[in-house]
Amino acid sequence: MERLTPMLKVRDLVLRFGGVTALNGVSFDVGHGELFAIIGPNGAGKTSIFNCLNGVYRPQEGTIELAGAPLTGKSPAAIASLGVARTFQNLGLFQHLSLIDNLMLGRHHLMSTGMLSGMLWWGRAKREEIAHRSAVESIIELLELESYRRMPAGLLPYGVAKRAELGRALAMEPTLLLLDEPVAGMNLEETEDMARYITEVRRQLPVTMILVEHDMGLVMDLASRVLVLDFGVVIATGEPAEVQENPQVIEAYLGGAA
Ligand SMILES: Nc1ncnc2c1ncn2[C@@H]1O[C@H](COP(=O)(O)OP(=O)(O)O)[C@@H](O)[C@H]1O
Ligand SMILES: [Mg+2]
Repeated sequence: MERLTPMLKVRDLVLRFGGVTALNGVSFDVGHGELFAIIGPNGAGKTSIFNCLNGVYRPQEGTIELAGAPLTGKSPAAIASLGVARTFQNLGLFQHLSLIDNLMLGRHHLMSTGMLSGMLWWGRAKREEIAHRSAVESIIELLELESYRRMPAGLLPYGVAKRAELGRALAMEPTLLLLDEPVAGMNLEETEDMARYITEVRRQLPVTMILVEHDMGLVMDLASRVLVLDFGVVIATGEPAEVQENPQVIEAYLGGAA
């Protein structure tokens, strides 16, 4: 029975900023274990959907349910503790901290308060630290970040920093992972690498993913289903091949040029 409840159920979201309607009646479901992609031109409202899902924005209308429980109206911290993690379109790493410390910080909501204060670990807290370190090490291994673990995040090559950002989100042990333009600014080789890591994460970890992308190419390879957004409105939802042939989608991407 539980399998029939979608992981995420979004209904009729409306989000306005003054006179701008960023989202206008957005509805979709994401199934357990899916890699669901949201694509659309710049300004379509993709990041706004993420900000509604993680509680940073409060939509004026609509509902969001995670595994049957309402998320709408909850704080970002409460939503994170329910297992929703995100990466940022622009890097969300602490530049002066090492990669490994950034990943450790990703786990802060799983840690007891005593451990957080001061980042100095004594006695009982030491055992907790070891458990967290080992969880972080397995993520480092999965994403092949071993040789960068001590490097300050600010010195990581761009493609590696984007991967570290994925690692930071995974360190939260999310059940729902929101990836905001994970290949933005990457060259072809870095993009292919990232696609491979996302596939590997999906194979090894029990995590449902929503991927926001400006670029269609990556999405078509990775996604189980795709939602196309244009000016805050859903213009198509379906399997990648089917969405790609939709005339409205082609129009939104090629505009007057077609
Ligand atoms: N905090 C904000 N204040 C005012 N307008 C915003 C804010 N966030 C997003 N918008 C507007 O909402 C629309 C959708 O933006 P966004 O969700 O960032 O699009 P995308 O991620 O698809 O490029 C844009 O018109 C943008 O200017
Ligand atoms: Mg965006």
